[in-house]
Amino acid sequence: MRLQTVLPILALAAATTLYAQQAPITDAQAKQFADSLLEKMTTAEKVGQLEQAAGQYTSREQADDLTVKGQVGSFLFFTDPVRINELQHIAVTQSPHHIPLLFGYDVIHGFRTIGPIPLALAASWDPTLAEHAQAMAAREASAAGINWAFSPMVDIARDPRWGRIMEGAGEDPYLGEQMAAAQVHGFQGPYIGAPDHILACVKHFGGYGAPFGGRDYDSVDLSEDALHNVYLRPYHAAIAAGAATVMSAYMDLNSVPATGNRWLMTDVLRDQWSFKGFVVSDWEAVKSLTTHGLAQGPADAAARSFTAGINMEMTSSLYREQLPALLQSGAIKPAQLDDAVRPILALKYRLGLFTNPYVDLDRYKAEQVSTAQRESVRRAAEQSAVLLRNQDSLLPLSKSLKTIAVIGPLGDSGVDTLGSWSLHGNPADTITVVEGLRAKLPNVNLLTTKGVEITRGQPSIFDDQAPEPKPTLLTDQARAAEFDHAVALIRQSDLAILVLGEAQNMSGERASRATLTLPGRQQQLLEAAVATGKPIVLILMAGRPLDITWAAEHVPAILEVWYPGTEGGNAVANLLTGAAVPSGKLPITWPRSVGQVPLFYNTNLTQIPEASATRYWDESSAPLYPFGFGLSYTSFTVSDLHADPGLTTTGKLHATVRVTNTGSMAADEVIQAYTHQRAGSASRPVRELRAFTKIHLAAGESRQVPLTISASDLRYWSPATHAEVLEPGIFDLWVGDSSEATEHLQFTLTQ
Ligand code: NOJ
Repeated sequence: MRLQTVLPILALAAATTLYAQQAPITDAQAKQFADSLLEKMTTAEKVGQLEQAAGQYTSREQADDLTVKGQVGSFLFFTDPVRINELQHIAVTQSPHHIPLLFGYDVIHGFRTIGPIPLALAASWDPTLAEHAQAMAAREASAAGINWAFSPMVDIARDPRWGRIMEGAGEDPYLGEQMAAAQVHGFQGPYIGAPDHILACVKHFGGYGAPFGGRDYDSVDLSEDALHNVYLRPYHAAIAAGAATVMSAYMDLNSVPATGNRWLMTDVLRDQWSFKGFVVSDWEAVKSLTTHGLAQGPADAAARSFTAGINMEMTSSLYREQLPALLQSGAIKPAQLDDAVRPILALKYRLGLFTNPYVDLDRYKAEQVSTAQRESVRRAAEQSAVLLRNQDSLLPLSKSLKTIAVIGPLGDSGVDTLGSWSLHGNPADTITVVEGLRAKLPNVNLLTTKGVEITRGQPSIFDDQAPEPKPTLLTDQARAAEFDHAVALIRQSDLAILVLGEAQNMSGERASRATLTLPGRQQQLLEAAVATGKPIVLILMAGRPLDITWAAEHVPAILEVWYPGTEGGNAVANLLTGAAVPSGKLPITWPRSVGQVPLFYNTNLTQIPEASATRYWDESSAPLYPFGFGLSYTSFTVSDLHADPGLTTTGKLHATVRVTNTGSMAADEVIQAYTHQRAGSASRPVRELRAFTKIHLAAGESRQVPLTISASDLRYWSPATHAEVLEPGIFDLWVGDSSEATEHLQFTLTQ
C-alpha cells in the first residue's frame, strides 16, 4: 500500500484507538515471543533491529526506505505524532516481520511542559516529586508516540565546571540512588507497558561525570573504590528499580572507552547486576572507538562494542555495515547476534507495540500544556529552590513595597527559564520571573530592564535544533547606557531583584566552563546594585553552583532557582512573596572558588582533618555552602537524638530526633542522617548520607522524626578484599538539616 493511501486510514485508526489497560507481560512471555520471531528473521533483519537512526538527519525517503526494509529498529528525535504514526505504520505493515519501531527522545525534565532541571529536582530531596515529574513527562511524550526516554542521567558529579552536572542528582551516591530509582519508576510506571509510560534509559554508563578538569567528553580515571562506592551506585539502584535500557558513555574509563568496555557492560551490568534489558551506545560512540585508539577501524570498532555488550548503535551505522561480514567470518557467532536482538524485541513486545503501535492523535491534542501540568511543574520548581542567604529576613518581600526593580539578563527570558535540554518546550508559554511578579504583584510598580547582556560566544550543540536567542548585541555606548539605566531604575525603587546566572546554553552538553564566575558583566552589575544602598535580592538561575563568594557577604538575600521550567516565573513569584516557602537543600557542595573543585563533603579523613588552613594557604578549603544546606523563611531546631545503641549485620538502626518549627510560618524541612565508620579495612568518608526525610511542620509545631538505617546500607566495596564488606565496629551518627549536622551519637555494629 502506498503511503498516500495509508494516511487517511491511519489518522482515523489512530484517532479511534482505545488505550485499553494492557496487562503486564512477563519476562518469560516476552522472551518466548522474541525467540519465535528470531527464528524467522534473516541476519540482515536482525542487524536492522540494532540500528538507531537520527530522525533529524535522515531524509523522509531514507527513513521510509530503512523502515520498509527492516534495516532500522529505532529512531531518535522524532516528535511529530503524525510522522511517528506514518513510520510505525510502514514498520508494522510493510517491513519483513512487522516489527514496530522504538522512538527515543531526550525527555530530560519534561517534554512539552518543562519542569525544573534534574539537579533542581534533586534539590527538592523528594524522590516522590521526581517520580511524579518524570511520570508526567512520560505521559506527554508517550502521547506524541515517543516510547523511550534517554533519561535519567544518574552520573555523579563533583565538579561544577562540568556542564552536564545540571542533568544529574549531584554529588551524593545515596541521594543519587533515590533519585535514580524514583525517576525510573516515573518513566516506566508499575510495569513495562503500563499505559502512559515509556522506557527509561539510564546514562551515561559509567563514570561520565568525572572527566578531567570537568571538560565534557574527557577521559575518566577512577579507582575501583570510587566506582563501586560512589559512581556506579545510582546505576545499580536504577537497574534494581527495573530500568529497561542503559546508554554507554562517550569517554574512556580507566583507558578503556565505555562503549568498548566489556567489564562495565557485561561483567558489572549483566553478570553482577543481572541486567536483562539492552544497552544503546551514545551518539556515534561506536564509531569513535577508532578515534579513541581502541579500534583499528570500522570493523574492529563494531566488533569491540558488540562483544563488549552494546546492543544498539546510535547513529553511526557501523553495525549495519560491518556485522554481516563479522558474522560471516565467524568473529561474531549467530547466537551472540540473537542475544543482542532478543531484549530489543522483548521490550517492544512488553511495551505492547506489536498489538497497539499507534499514537492516538486525540490524546496527543489533549496532552498539551494544561492547568494540572502547569500546577505540577510550578510546585516542583517551588520545592527545588534553595534559599542560600536571607539576612534580616529580607524575604519574603514586605507587602509595603511600592516600586521594585527587576533587573538582569535572565529576568524576562523564556528560553533561559526553561533551561538546557528542553528542546520540545515552548518559550512562548513559559512564565518568566518578570511575568510571574507582574501577575503576583499587580499593585506594585515593576521597573524592568536587562542591565547587561550575556552570550556564550561559541555555538552550542543545540544551535541547529533550537537556535539560541540571539542577544541584540549593543554597541559599547549603548551597553554603558543600558547598565546605567538599570542602576537608575534600582535607585528609583524600594528594592531590587537581580535575576542573574547563566543563559540556558551555558550548561548542559558541551557546556563546560573553566571558571564559575557570573558570565559577562553581571558581577559589576550586582556590585553597582549593592552600591546604591537599596535592599537587593539575588535570584540565581543556573545549572551549576557559581562563584558568588562576594555576593554571599554583600547581598542580603540569595535564592537559587536553577532553571525552573515552564512555570518558573510563577514559582519564583510565590517564593519571593511567601506564598511558597523555600525548602530545597543543596545536592552539591558549593565552592568558594573554582580553584577548590572538585570539592565534596564525603571525603576521607586524612592527616590533620580539622584544620582547613593546612590545605591551601591562599583559600579556605571549606565550602561556601555545604552539601545538604538550605534555609527557610521559618527556623527549625533539631534536638534530642536517640538511637539504638547498636545493630547486628542483619538488623536496622532506629533513630529519632525532635524537630521544632520555631518560627512563624508553616514550612517543609529536610532531616538528614549521616554516618561514619571509625575503623575498617579501608578509610571511610568523614560522613556519608544514609537516610533523609522531608517533613511539613506548622508554625510552632514540634515532632519526633524517625529515621532508619539498615545494616546493609553500611556495606561498602573494600579495596582490601575487592568485594563488598560489612565490617562490625563503632560508627558515628549525625542527624540534622545539612551535612554539617551536629546532633551526634555513636552506635556499634555487631555480627
Ligand atoms: C548525546 C548525549 O550525550 C546523550 O545524553 C543524548 O541522550 C544523546 N546525544 C541523544 O540526544
